[in-house]
Amino acid sequence: MKVLVIGSGGREHALVWKIAQSKLVDKIFCAPGNGGISEIAECIEIKGNDTERLLSFARKEKIDLTVVGPEAPLVLGIVDEFSNYGLKIFGPKENAAKLEESKVFAKKLMAKYNVPTADFNIFDNPDEAKKHVRRIGVPCVVKADGLAAGKGVVVAKSIEEAEKAIVSIMQEKIFGDAGNKIIIEECLEGQEVSILILTDSKAVIPLVSSQDHKRLLDGDNGPNTGGMGAYSPAPVLTEPVFKEIMKNVINRTIAGLTQESITYSGVIYAGIMLTKNGPKVLEFNVRFGDPETQSILPRLQSDLLEAIIATAEGNLSKFAKSGGFKWGKRACVSVVCASKGYPANHEAGKEIFGLEEVKKMENIVVFHAGTKRLPQSRAGKTQFVTNGGRVLGVTGLGNSIKEAIANTYKAVSRINFEGMQYRRDIGSKAL
Ligand code: AMP
Ligand code: GLY
Repeated sequence: MKVLVIGSGGREHALVWKIAQSKLVDKIFCAPGNGGISEIAECIEIKGNDTERLLSFARKEKIDLTVVGPEAPLVLGIVDEFSNYGLKIFGPKENAAKLEESKVFAKKLMAKYNVPTADFNIFDNPDEAKKHVRRIGVPCVVKADGLAAGKGVVVAKSIEEAEKAIVSIMQEKIFGDAGNKIIIEECLEGQEVSILILTDSKAVIPLVSSQDHKRLLDGDNGPNTGGMGAYSPAPVLTEPVFKEIMKNVINRTIAGLTQESITYSGVIYAGIMLTKNGPKVLEFNVRFGDPETQSILPRLQSDLLEAIIATAEGNLSKFAKSGGFKWGKRACVSVVCASKGYPANHEAGKEIFGLEEVKKMENIVVFHAGTKRLPQSRAGKTQFVTNGGRVLGVTGLGNSIKEAIANTYKAVSRINFEGMQYRRDIGSKAL
């Protein structure tokens, strides 16, 4: 079959890499893709949010299945559009993508259906919001309602910091209309885990657990980023806690959506804080996590595409009965190598060295994010240059997290580009 993957990051490279291993696939396109993806799929120059052009491409090429990586196309209703034309596509429809598009929607749903989450209040008036912060005190968390590329959350340690966040989100509108409403919520303490599941609203199949590292610098310091690395499994997530999350978070959320006449199909990614009062939801995403996916998919021994098709067709329970996912026992670590200046701004066009050598290393795969492949040199050499903030996800497997960390950092040490920055402590929380 012909598959189209939408997106251009490390997550999409991991998806394309895994889908390419399926017996069911004949040809993969990726829109717009990146340097690394262009080695295993045909990249087409259409942006993920250009629904109209993607639709006409899929119709012209007779694409059998489209897999959406990022949230933006989902929120724009790409699944509704493709479905209207009878094209098979993996991901939630626009009404279900609200779970990520609007934190107010997600919070109200959780409150109504008793899904454990931080206590919260919703505001559409900045003065009321400031008054509330002074009343409850700090620490507190200020969140823009809408999409803000992971930058719409401020964990405020002082009243001034909280007020500044309120002003910039609601009055200066740094995220535009995404800041018309805000949430102010209780600050939770604990370790974070990412729980990803597939669902067609009738059946639920979990993926293995993982943990992201959102801060730029070692020891969880510095500004928030899109994610500087991930590992899987997350040993803090014990079996009883996992069961509790499935029951109280995942099942209640899907049942709640169903009550609201919303059929959810695709991935639900729950960001969970493991607090001393039990697991609580920080946020929902309606897609695979980035960089979590890069640390999850190398552990999958069975065919991802079969599961994706079953989800899109509403046949997930049949897939589960026929054995479901098969996971390997080995642990996986993925370290993000980022450009100088990331996350505020970033350089581009820097040559990346060492990829050929790392390709020969066992237990290592490098997922590209912000890279571009240059035309082959006369010597037949493939050259990549940086083309984004997060450049590579260097990923390694090992018999333990410790071994996976060692394998991965050995590979990282072979890779270099001007201004490259990365965290030295990815996975160390698991030790
Ligand atoms: P979100 O995009 O909602 O997941 O928030 C981004 C990050 O902010 C999370 O990964 C947490 O590290 C932090 N965060 C969000 N909500 C809270 C909360 N209620 N308490 C403490 N930290 C939070
Ligand atoms: N790893 C964070 C995210 O995918 O939103």
